[in-house]
Amino acid sequence: MRSVKILTSIVLAAAVFHLGGSDAMAKDKPMKIEKSYFDTTPQGTKIDAYTLCNGQGVTVKLVTWGATIVQITAPDRDGKIGNVALGSDKIAPYQGDYQGSIVGRYANRIAKGKFSIGDNEYTLAKNNGENHLHGGLVGFNQKIWKAKTIKRKDFVGVEFTTTSADMEEGYPGNMTIKVVYTLDKENNLKIEYFAKTDKTTVVNLTNHVYFNLAGTGTILDHIVTLNADFYTPVDEGLIPTGEILSVKGTPFDFTKPNRIGHGFDKLNNDPKGIDHNIVLKQCASSDMHQVATVLEPKSGRVMEVYTTQPGVQFYTGNFLNGAFVGREGPYQQYTGFCLETQHYPDSPNQPHFPSTVLKPGEKYNEVTIYKFTVENAD
Ligand code: BGC
Repeated sequence: MRSVKILTSIVLAAAVFHLGGSDAMAKDKPMKIEKSYFDTTPQGTKIDAYTLCNGQGVTVKLVTWGATIVQITAPDRDGKIGNVALGSDKIAPYQGDYQGSIVGRYANRIAKGKFSIGDNEYTLAKNNGENHLHGGLVGFNQKIWKAKTIKRKDFVGVEFTTTSADMEEGYPGNMTIKVVYTLDKENNLKIEYFAKTDKTTVVNLTNHVYFNLAGTGTILDHIVTLNADFYTPVDEGLIPTGEILSVKGTPFDFTKPNRIGHGFDKLNNDPKGIDHNIVLKQCASSDMHQVATVLEPKSGRVMEVYTTQPGVQFYTGNFLNGAFVGREGPYQQYTGFCLETQHYPDSPNQPHFPSTVLKPGEKYNEVTIYKFTVENAD
């Protein structure tokens, strides 16, 4: 187990977009976890939902499809509770999508769908142009996971488990995967990832939840600070070139609090926006370290992110095009941002990046925390 040391710690197109949410005020109530019916897949499988409530206004709704976060609520600076994550109350939009789900066996891209371990070359699906993305045609986001509730004095949670067979989607080794979500009274949503394999393989797990702390509009005016001096530049297919460059003076410079959209005019990717791996500063490789602090100035909502992972894919929803119809209607470009904590993209082909190889007998274990507070809370 890794030690958890740090726990304390626009409107572009006047898109008519509202995340809604209840008008209830945050009150100190007991923590609880509720199981409910979510929806049924077109193949006839019933999908369950589990709602974690911490009695302070933070709730997290999870479903067995993709071990997905379908809703998060949090109080604003006046105690008013609203949605802070994109999502739907129906299964249909989640089919073939990554939103809110656990992504694997390899989150992010692997160049040309190929990698080698020793003398063995493995071939994966090219499901993103000429590259492999987010585990392939049927990734972990499209699996129906087993769920078990957890209730302790200090937190409530759900343990999700699934398996991935040897050569499934082209990856070697039978893998067992466990993802544990917990929510505590201090508004920490903790996601713990575990995996084991019986053959040497690669693994890179993350959650693909989109946040919008305003509950309305685009995310371009959210103020972000990243614990990072470097990023990995990419080619046109979003594959790292292998360089590790300084963020100084680039659109990826969030060393001081900065608007998400501050440098978009300097970007020439299409669609424009941030979709890059940021290299996190770490105290010691296996310790929890800070990823980001995000402030939404109007509501005063703040999200702090911590992880054991070496990188984070900062993605500003550039490709959102209305195809995902959420609770409030179709999600358009920039209506949500992701901070997908993970290893760097294409690590299996970039020997100088931190390794994503997992061998039999080893335990994959990573932790990420999203903490919801408000500005000037203390
Ligand atoms: C990637 C984007 C991709 C999106 C799909 C993100 O993790 O970085 O390029 O379009 O996932 O949902």
